[in-house]
Amino acid sequence: MSLKAFRGAFLDFVDDPFYASEADSVRYLPDGLLLLEDGKVKVLGTYESLQESYAGIPITAYPDRLIMPGFIDTHIHFPQTEMIAAYGEQLLEWLDKYTFPTEGKFHDKAYAQEIASFFLDELLKHGTTTALVFTAVYPQSVDAFFEEASRRHLRMIAGKVLMDRNAPDFLTDTPETAYEESKQLIEKWHKHDRLLYAITPRFAVTSSDEQLRLAGKLLAEFPDVYMHTHIAENIKEVALVAELFPDSKGYLDVYDRAGLVGTKSVFAHGVQLTDAEFQRLSEAHSTIAFCPTSNLFLGSGLFNLKKAKSIDQPIKVGLGTDVGGGTSFSMLETASEAYKVTQLRGETLSSFQALYLATLGGARALSLENTLGNFEPGKEADFIVLDPRATPLMARRNPSAIATSLPELADQTFATIMLGDDRAIHATYIMGELAYENEAYRQTGAA
Ligand code: GUN
Ligand code: ZN
Repeated sequence: MSLKAFRGAFLDFVDDPFYASEADSVRYLPDGLLLLEDGKVKVLGTYESLQESYAGIPITAYPDRLIMPGFIDTHIHFPQTEMIAAYGEQLLEWLDKYTFPTEGKFHDKAYAQEIASFFLDELLKHGTTTALVFTAVYPQSVDAFFEEASRRHLRMIAGKVLMDRNAPDFLTDTPETAYEESKQLIEKWHKHDRLLYAITPRFAVTSSDEQLRLAGKLLAEFPDVYMHTHIAENIKEVALVAELFPDSKGYLDVYDRAGLVGTKSVFAHGVQLTDAEFQRLSEAHSTIAFCPTSNLFLGSGLFNLKKAKSIDQPIKVGLGTDVGGGTSFSMLETASEAYKVTQLRGETLSSFQALYLATLGGARALSLENTLGNFEPGKEADFIVLDPRATPLMARRNPSAIATSLPELADQTFATIMLGDDRAIHATYIMGELAYENEAYRQTGAA
């Protein structure tokens, strides 16, 4: 048995601030103590209340820092790391011109391994500890990703991309090879260490009815794996899906009739969904990954977060960076752009709501709320140490490092979201072990 303790200011969520009051959903301890046992949370409480019971256990102290659960990115593409920020196109042209040629390189396992390693290091550097990840069509790209994630003891979800049409020959599989290869990968990787598998048809445009049908058959055979795809991102894409599937009732129906719409189904974007599709996703307890930097960068549109988070027809929502359609690995920057999307719709998003989406909300979106997402006892201790005063500008905007009330914390975290990025991530811990430490703090010897 190994016990460890961390002291600092702690922020996590015990309920959903879209539906519960801040007082009931936000847990904030300005001087807290987090005890871990074998990489899992034993207890979180005030330093004062716990110090005597746990005297003698070595304490790692982070004065002037804010400790939070690790960020959860509910939609990202590891092979698109090197083509982030590709100029001038919207979705369909962007895929043809930049994405497909880049993904072709992942046929080479060694190359896939190199990019997977870089990608996972970027996630940790930005405070992201769990992600739902697209790989490429090649099984070896899935092996490369999971091998690197396993080496870092990360809780990651990924799967082989399925595409049997409307893509270059070098990137296409067939319904049968997609089924067989995915099945072998599930047997190899699902629940291996902390890894989980997602059956991953790219989107309706690049899969035939037969491929989607077999993906649904596979999901029925392995009901606890995920289904991960894109939906209704762009107007031209929606029109193309209607052309390709003339007898379907709509975009979501293409997936639904294949048996792909369920509790562990995650649909990226959903910018152009109809009212009936929102209703169906709510009934099916499926998830939408809201990807604001991508939706703005590719000119896709403004996601209706208010509708997705309505009380009468709630849908599980997570935040996704969608790198390389998205322009940043940072969940702080992603939350900042999410706020701006709501502003453009005449709505708003509080810092607590945004940070909830990036932590416990993301865990719920991925059906992982019993495993991680906050500091409840028994949960896996993946957490980050944030510096709300990380840059000279942030230090001016946040004059005191430790907020003493919820309104003060709301203001401090809002400014941290708006101004922060990887520079605000002092350290990232995985199962209670230091996995990343920011150079800037190492050199100054802070904490
Ligand atoms: N739709 C189908 N494939 C993709 C992709 O790679 N990125 C985005 N943003 N949308 C997609
Ligand atoms: Zn995507």
